[in-house]
This record gives sequence, structure tokens and C-alpha cells, in this order.
Amino acid sequence: PVKVTTQTVVDMKHRGEAISMLTAYDFTMAKLIDAAGIDIILVGDSASNVMAGFETTLPITLDHMIYHTSCVVRGVDRALVVADLPFMSYQVTTKEALISAGRMMKEAGAHAVKLEGGTPIVNTVRRIVDAGIPVMGHLGLTPQSIYKFGTYKVRATENQEADQLLEDARKLEDAGCFGLVLEKIPSKLSKMVTESLSIPTIGIGAGSHCDGQVLVSHDMLGLNKDFHPRFLRRYADLHNTVVGAVSSYVQDVKSRDFPNEKEQYN
Ligand code: KIV
Ligand code: NA
Repeated sequence: PVKVTTQTVVDMKHRGEAISMLTAYDFTMAKLIDAAGIDIILVGDSASNVMAGFETTLPITLDHMIYHTSCVVRGVDRALVVADLPFMSYQVTTKEALISAGRMMKEAGAHAVKLEGGTPIVNTVRRIVDAGIPVMGHLGLTPQSIYKFGTYKVRATENQEADQLLEDARKLEDAGCFGLVLEKIPSKLSKMVTESLSIPTIGIGAGSHCDGQVLVSHDMLGLNKDFHPRFLRRYADLHNTVVGAVSSYVQDVKSRDFPNEKEQYN
């Protein structure tokens, strides 16, 4: 298949073709999602929650993210693979950020990296892009800052935070980002951001005006039972599918129905 590149997704914005993005953290899921025709696979630091069971995205390490990303890359033929740089792998110094981004490209085989934040990381973004590494930005409800926000509620509902977000978005485009995730902000604001940028915006809980949409695959597949935010559309109920299948297996083993005559070597 023709591979999706950062240029492809920028062109899609200008053609008015919506961009589809989902997360994956392992080989098998990446292979399934890629085969279904997704444009971008995000190896999100939501792996910290979904894969490792942590409460927040803060504990996951760069080494963990490199492992997940390398597994995803091996399963993908077509999609653009973007990898999150985790908390504290890029905030301390630009030099450290460049080393982290470089490891993600070199050791994991990512096609691009994603960093959270605006003005404070703009120079770092420029430096990573200058090194030949494509960067995606991420504004709005940036989960690595959850202890600063104190809540997972919608961001930028007040004028000051909205103005700052619009300015940050422009600065990130200026610094060379090829795309921008907008998380949990009012639809009106993401419309303004989307119209004022020439790079695509990819929304999660950011309304219909974004150039693309992203969801956590485990959420949209219904694997996480007790997560019901307004922005989440469920496309399957894999929780019940998996629990049902496993309980049937347990029953069949207990009743000695499994294995039967045809399921053994005689
Ligand atoms: O880590 C993640 O899954 C993300 C998406 C929700 C955008 O950053
Ligand atoms: Na993330």
C-alpha cells in the first residue's frame, strides 16, 4: 500500500478529506487497525493507563514508550506511526528532548513524535524538526499536566485560556509542527484554530470542525467498561465479547467438553 506520510495528512486537510487516527500499543492491534485503513496510529502515553494500569500518564518511561512503539511499527504497512514522548523526557532541556526524540526514531522506528504543550516547548519543537524529526503538537486538556489542572474537565472555556491556546497553536505551526491534537476544548474554539492553521488539527472531544479525529482504540472498542465521556462513540462491546468467550472456555474446561475428539492427536 501507499504509505501515509506527514505530507499526506497536510494534503488531506487542503483537499478537505478527514483524517482518521487511533491509538495502538502492540503488534497485533496495530496490524488490525492498519489493515482497516486508519491514516495515523498514535502510540499514546495513554499506554500508561491502558497497558500498565496506572492512574495517570505520568509514570510511563521513555524506555516503555520505545518498546510499545517498536511493537506497533512491526505491525504497520500503511499508517503513519506517531509516538508520544512521555512526561519529563522533553521538558527539562532542549538537548534532552532531542535525544529522546532521536531514540524514538532510531530505536523504535517511529515516523514522528508528539509533545504536549505550547509556548514553553516551541523552541524545543523547532530544534527537533530541524533535526529532521516530524513533530505533532497537543493542546487543550494535556494529560501530562493533570496535576496542574486538577480536573479532567473541558479546557479553554474562558477567554484568556482560549486566546492563549490559539496563540500556542500558531506558534507550534510556526515552529514546524505537521499537525496538532486538540483535546477536550469547546467546538467553537477548535473551529477557530482549525481555520487559522494550514496544518491539520486532530480532535478528541474537540468537536466536528477539526480536520481529523482520534480516539483511544480500547475505549472505542468497548474494552474499558466504566469510561463514558460525552465525546466517546463506542463501535463494539469487546468487554462483553471477551468476558463471554472466556467464561465459555472456563465452562468447557470444567465440564470436560474441551478438548473433544477432533481437538486432540490420536
Ligand atoms: O495518549 C493518547 O492516547 C493521546 C490521545 C488521546 C490524543 O495523546
Ligand atoms: Na498522549
